[in-house]
Amino acid sequence: MMTEKQIQWFPGHMFKSLREIKEKIKLMDLVFVLLDARLPFSSMNPELHKIISHKPMLLLFNKMDLADDQITNQYIRYYQQEGYYTLKIDAASGKNVNKIKPMAMTILKEKLDREKAKGLKMRPLRCMILGIPNVGKSTLINRLSKSSATKTANTPGVTKTQQWIKLGDDFELLDTPGVLWPKFNDPKVGYHLAITGAIKDKILPEDDVVSYALNYLKTNYPKKLEERYGITDNMDFLTMLHTIGTLRGCLLKGGEFDYPRIYHIVLSDIRNNHLGGLSFDRP
Ligand code: G4P
Repeated sequence: MMTEKQIQWFPGHMFKSLREIKEKIKLMDLVFVLLDARLPFSSMNPELHKIISHKPMLLLFNKMDLADDQITNQYIRYYQQEGYYTLKIDAASGKNVNKIKPMAMTILKEKLDREKAKGLKMRPLRCMILGIPNVGKSTLINRLSKSSATKTANTPGVTKTQQWIKLGDDFELLDTPGVLWPKFNDPKVGYHLAITGAIKDKILPEDDVVSYALNYLKTNYPKKLEERYGITDNMDFLTMLHTIGTLRGCLLKGGEFDYPRIYHIVLSDIRNNHLGGLSFDRP
């Protein structure tokens, strides 16, 4: 059960769109579920299985360029053992995006063979992208549509403004993704989402988020913290802030530290890969 405080993190339209998503999924042969490779657990919708029901799905670990590859691989192995199809991608640069379609064809091979054996006419396979805000859905759609020639006409059953993007002769992607909400029953998850920018800044107090981030990095990536800011193991939160503030010249006129600027530096360094690949969920 979600508390009021948790619900206010997420705009009402996300809940409203749920029924629409469920309708659209009925038309799909396959669903691409986009996860943030830095937080595969937190970025997975808690109701995913209910929403997708029995449809085949491919888990795409996006933003692999920002994640700790070793941890991403551990997640991939875990999900594969659980019977999921997985692929890590970087939709921004396009890395591995060309593997999506061949993988989808492999997943659907049995179904296609069955239809063929029944003598059914070949039809284009249909898929859509689902994921939480900011996970890279639009980036991936743009990336996939760049490599495709045309958009096809509207299809009954789908809202007028939506179209199918042809990915070759035999595959079509819905041009509008389904927006889902992330897990948020655990305060840690909220911090992970805030640190990576999956939920808007100011939803959680910035000093709390940065405190969580620096302590997390101190525990899990101490070398990176030391290399970037000269932060060492024995420093408490305030000392860490002052060390960064001194290094980066975050001082106000009276000689006070400019804390909001320090918070901004830490978060933007994490989000822009200045510390190297980081993962916030661990399997
Ligand atoms: P959404 O539709 O799921 O809400 O996400 P969207 O595609 O808008 O992507 C959100 C942000 O994530 C964008 O950055 C986008 O460039 C970035 N992004 C998407 N995929 C990847 C990826 O694989 N790697 C990296 N590093 N970034 C990715 P933004 O800051 O909002 O805009 P901009 O930086 O592109 O200007």
